[in-house]
Amino acid sequence: MKTITLGLLGFGTVGGGAYEALRMTEEQFTKKLGVKLKVKKILVNTLKKKRRDDIDPSVFTTNAKDIIADPDIDIVAEAMGGIEPATAYMLEAMRYGKHVVTANKAAVAHNFEILTKTAERYGVLFRMEACVAGGIPILNAITQVLQANKFEEVLGILNGTTNYILTQMTKYGLPYEEVLKDAQEKGFAEADPTDDVEGIDVANKLSILMALSFGKYVHPTEIPREGITGVTMEDIEKAKAEGKTIKLIASAVDNNGELEYSVKPVALPNDHPLAAVSNEYNAVFLKGNAVGELMFQGKGAGALPTGSAFGGDILNIMALSGGKML
Ligand SMILES: NC(=O)c1ccc[n+]([C@@H]2O[C@H](COP(=O)([O-])OP(=O)(O)OC[C@H]3O[C@@H](n4cnc5c(N)ncnc54)[C@H](OP(=O)(O)O)[C@@H]3O)[C@@H](O)[C@H]2O)c1
Repeated sequence: MKTITLGLLGFGTVGGGAYEALRMTEEQFTKKLGVKLKVKKILVNTLKKKRRDDIDPSVFTTNAKDIIADPDIDIVAEAMGGIEPATAYMLEAMRYGKHVVTANKAAVAHNFEILTKTAERYGVLFRMEACVAGGIPILNAITQVLQANKFEEVLGILNGTTNYILTQMTKYGLPYEEVLKDAQEKGFAEADPTDDVEGIDVANKLSILMALSFGKYVHPTEIPREGITGVTMEDIEKAKAEGKTIKLIASAVDNNGELEYSVKPVALPNDHPLAAVSNEYNAVFLKGNAVGELMFQGKGAGALPTGSAFGGDILNIMALSGGKML
């Protein structure tokens, strides 16, 4: 049986989650695809951390070249985070003829054009499902199953931390600072929550979503953006009195051929499908001219939900590059 060889860049929440998701389904996908998967090398920052017992310690390396330049490796899957050196590693891997999978929305949003053009130039596949809305298969849906549509509107709740904070403020009348502290204690918010609460993370995701759904790439810093730090209890109470719920919404709307886009808190009517999406859940609501309205909801972060998307991209490439088509 043919073996496809994988190199992982990063073995944290996403890399580790994908490894676990693939390990749990190995028998199933090997039988289905007729191809085996071998994880040859894993790049990490330090060799001192305790890793999984079922992985030989010699698989871990701190030298990216061990993966990128290894002629045996077919697929490089990047989940290290940060724009650099992650982008440079992905570009280099493509130049070496390797297919690339990434979960790194910041790197993709900032370098979308060079990454996609380099993949095209070197004839390799480039997949990024885990970058937007974690476990929700929105990018594969948009780029594959929904291709026979012109999109009129794509709206998303794309950040679990801010959705959790706004939900708690709305449900229990708790002030922003108190909910943020609670979210940090529960692990839903980073120690430095700036990227989340200022909408930076969501702008990265919207940039990718727009490039794939409308064919228009906008650098994330060019997207009008407002986070949730200015949302007060008065705003929330006023929205409630009007039958509305405040959500941090990533929005891209085709207005007669003109694409309008933003990231900002919006008071949605309570009967809008996105208004009911609560706590750490993510969702994408879209309108296609053929399919009509569609709503996707699920977990936008975490080891296994994100590992599901990241692992799915790896298996999709395995199927396309030698396995049986599903
Ligand atoms: N966490 C989520 O739920 C989630 C969801 C969707 C997308 N993402 C994206 O996925 C990416 C990874 O996130 P994560 O949460 O998995 O991060 P993480 O838990 O911090 O893991 C990062 C991994 O990469 C390694 N690493 C980082 N910088 C490195 C460098 N310069 N050289 C070598 N190894 C390096 C780390 O090594 P050590 O283990 O030695 O520290 C670690 O294994 C990010 O781009 C993030 O935005 C995350």
